[in-house]
Amino acid sequence: MTYYYKGFPQSDRDEKISMINVDELEERAKKVMPEGAYYYIASGAENEWTWRANTSAFNHYQIVPRALTDMDDPQTDTEFMGMKLKTPIMISPIACHGIAHKDAEVATQKGAAAAGALFSSSTYANKSVEDIAAAAPEAPRFFQLYLSKDWDFNKMVFDAIKKAGYKGIFLTVDALVSGYREANLRTHFTYPVPLDFFTRYLGGKGEGQSVAQMYASSAQKISPEDVARIKKESGLPVFVKGVMCAEDAYKAIGAGADGIYVTNHGGREVDGAPATIDVLPEIAKAVNHRVPIVFDSGVRRGSHVFKALALGADIVGIGRPYLYGLALGGPKGVESVIDQLDNELKIDMQLTGCKTIADVKHAKIDRIHYGLDTMPSNTDPSRMEPYPVTADNQIKSQEPDATSGASKH
Ligand SMILES: Cc1cc2nc3c(=O)[nH]c(=O)nc-3n(C[C@H](O)[C@H](O)[C@H](O)COP(=O)(O)O)c2cc1C
Repeated sequence: MTYYYKGFPQSDRDEKISMINVDELEERAKKVMPEGAYYYIASGAENEWTWRANTSAFNHYQIVPRALTDMDDPQTDTEFMGMKLKTPIMISPIACHGIAHKDAEVATQKGAAAAGALFSSSTYANKSVEDIAAAAPEAPRFFQLYLSKDWDFNKMVFDAIKKAGYKGIFLTVDALVSGYREANLRTHFTYPVPLDFFTRYLGGKGEGQSVAQMYASSAQKISPEDVARIKKESGLPVFVKGVMCAEDAYKAIGAGADGIYVTNHGGREVDGAPATIDVLPEIAKAVNHRVPIVFDSGVRRGSHVFKALALGADIVGIGRPYLYGLALGGPKGVESVIDQLDNELKIDMQLTGCKTIADVKHAKIDRIHYGLDTMPSNTDPSRMEPYPVTADNQIKSQEPDATSGASKH
């Protein structure tokens, strides 16, 4: 069944999804999501080279199988910032989960909690931080901050997340403006479902904004002093999200950052940026275990999680795959995606003699150059037509909604 928010169709499913791998969910999600929503998720910046490289670059590293390890029953539980987790796989912050499910972030939080995974909530979430926390009161969660130019807005956010029990902040510094995402332009994408912090602060004006408009309200200048100020005003640990070189890791730690988040925003910002897995080793060397490292972008396999952990990450985020899981199965769909990757990770752990996540961090990785894989771009215009027409993915009314512009999707 499908719900509608001002004509915009939202899934209301809550069922486990079976899959052979998480990659196949991308095609399946098209059948339950409107075109604009799907391409907002799937797309990257410009020619999407970085988007493709994020996943294919995992092939630059090889997991060395180990023999005679006398080990079975690998365990993926781990600890991060004092939080006990069942898996090192994390829900990376993504805006507007309401494009995938009527319960939006509340549904994602439920799925993450069921899988024992760390959830992180975007400043651009549809649901309130209080409702997200109430969905799984005992579950650990972080908050992703788009710093606003307006410090009254920032203060409102800090007060709310502290009261709601969020354990820390991922300060996003790699999206000072939106990357040039052509798919959003082709589909005239605007956020079809209101984003809680903006309606809380701006009232009705917070609705129906384009991605570029949203980014324009956030700070385009973020300095090391801002890291210290956010820490002081929020009283929470702050990770810098968007570190892609050793120099910036030094700078962030020098500014008092409690952790480093290695990401290129899933290839959505600078097209031509290196794949995150290729910069992780130099950043891990610079960080030298002084603070924890979060990693994401392009992770689609248990073996990718394994490689990231072995090359220096403490926890590994996924983005697009769980949002497809949310559209296809709601909370249980999110849980299925995490479980799929966790089960694949366990296979690699067994075959390398790694009983624990701590063992994976010392696993033997090789770096031999083979020919690069080539992958087609998922939002290449030639692949955008024809879009599948199903009962679930059609906007109800052709009349654009006055506030949300929903029928544009
Ligand atoms: C649809 C979408 C929306 C996103 N929204 C945010 C956001 O609000 N804040 C943020 O810091 N990162 C955001 N990201 C980036 C993710 O946190 C993460 O870095 C990225 O999705 C990882 O790459 P992957 O999708 O290839 O796994 C978004 C990514 C996607 C795909």
